[in-house]
Amino acid sequence: MDPPYNTGNDDFKYNDKFNHSTWLTFMKNRLEIARELLRDDGVIFVQCDDNEQAYLKVLMDEIFGRENFVNCVAVKMSVAAGLKMSNKERRMIKIKEYLLVYSKNKDFKFANIDPLYVYKDKYEVERSDKYIENFDDDPLNWYFCSLHEAYNKYMLKNETKLEFVNRNYKRIFNHVVNASTKKNWEKLSDDDKQKYTNKVRYYNVDGSDYDYAYNDHVLIPYNPKILEGDMWCGNFAIGGTKSPEGRVEFSNGKKPEILIQRIIEISTNENDLVLDFFAGSGTTLAVAHKMKRRYIGIEQMDYIQNITKERLKKVIEGEQGGISKAVEWQGGGNLVYCELASLNAKFIEQIENCSNENELDNIYEALRKLAFIDYRADIQSDFKDLEFGALSFEEKKRILKKCLDRNMDYIPYADIEDSEYKIDEQTRILNKIFYKKS
Ligand SMILES: C[S@@+](CC[C@H](N)C(=O)[O-])C[C@H]1O[C@@H](n2cnc3c(N)ncnc32)[C@H](O)[C@@H]1O
Repeated sequence: MDPPYNTGNDDFKYNDKFNHSTWLTFMKNRLEIARELLRDDGVIFVQCDDNEQAYLKVLMDEIFGRENFVNCVAVKMSVAAGLKMSNKERRMIKIKEYLLVYSKNKDFKFANIDPLYVYKDKYEVERSDKYIENFDDDPLNWYFCSLHEAYNKYMLKNETKLEFVNRNYKRIFNHVVNASTKKNWEKLSDDDKQKYTNKVRYYNVDGSDYDYAYNDHVLIPYNPKILEGDMWCGNFAIGGTKSPEGRVEFSNGKKPEILIQRIIEISTNENDLVLDFFAGSGTTLAVAHKMKRRYIGIEQMDYIQNITKERLKKVIEGEQGGISKAVEWQGGGNLVYCELASLNAKFIEQIENCSNENELDNIYEALRKLAFIDYRADIQSDFKDLEFGALSFEEKKRILKKCLDRNMDYIPYADIEDSEYKIDEQTRILNKIFYKKS
């Protein structure tokens, strides 16, 4: 879930300025449903920032149970640069956000933690480091040079030492003295020493392919990766809109595909089901699609039409941005796009778009017959009285909207057969399949 962070920002296309308790209620309602929908061995990630993290943690403890708290991950989402520098003396610059992670059960395990192994960002050269020059030959015939020599001999133009080491890590060994064999070594005659020098014997210590003995020292292969914990410092900076991922522009809160890739990779397997009901530009859905997961995405704003849906169509056509190259995405697959059948929502839209009193009268007549009216309004008499007639056009619109019961914005499934709503046969069948009703 990537909900509005409640930053108080008015510039967003969606509401990001809730009163604090309204935001918590809004989240509570949605998290309770999320928990209900979650599989028994499932996991939920919710992204937020300093505005609500502490409160959201308490809320999620309550809903998911403290024993099901998995992690609070700090994700580096930006760098200290740009506009936010103007306040650098007042507070430290904010470059991280959080992922609150909860499971449904406490025996939860991640599906695959490999993506959490990341390349080290520096390489401390050891005096003893060796580089195998003829790695593809039989290990018995290997010969070495020092890593320093290898830099001079084999490093590509423009390559850094770290890049060289990461590219060649299988050929690089730090070796560790094996005390007992060292003693034996000293007992060897000079001839024998000569025989073994620069020769490698395969030394299968723990079943790994890369343990060898050299001059009776145990060679430990260089490991270029470390396990990243709950602080994710990769290149997760929000891409911005200059080179828009997924070939759609979405300036407020669009997440980078590699971040979602990591989440989906560690927590799901192919064909698992991913739910994102704050879809925005559809990053989660695009990534899930490219990673062969099934998904359901929901978005409230009309931009679902020309941003979210369009992005997914491009994915199906084989769009090559974001993680496509990494997962060798070639296109394919399909999706079903549905909209909730409007009831009161349709009237709200009509009232908002209405431009004259005549039209408003017609809407009012239709609304009396078909809309669901808030139980507190007495629409039959209120609207006939003189006081209402004397209101300004905008006031009338506001009051008409207020009379509508917002719990009935959409037609409930239970009323699908009601002839009044004229639901076609195809839609009825689709809904029965979706709700698994026979
Ligand atoms: C931070 S954005 C999600 C961005 C998305 N992860 C992406 O990468 O594009 C939050 C989304 O939640 C949606 N949303 C759903 N219900 C909302 C509500 N009641 N109030 C505000 N936003 C809501 C917004 O319309 C917005 O698209």
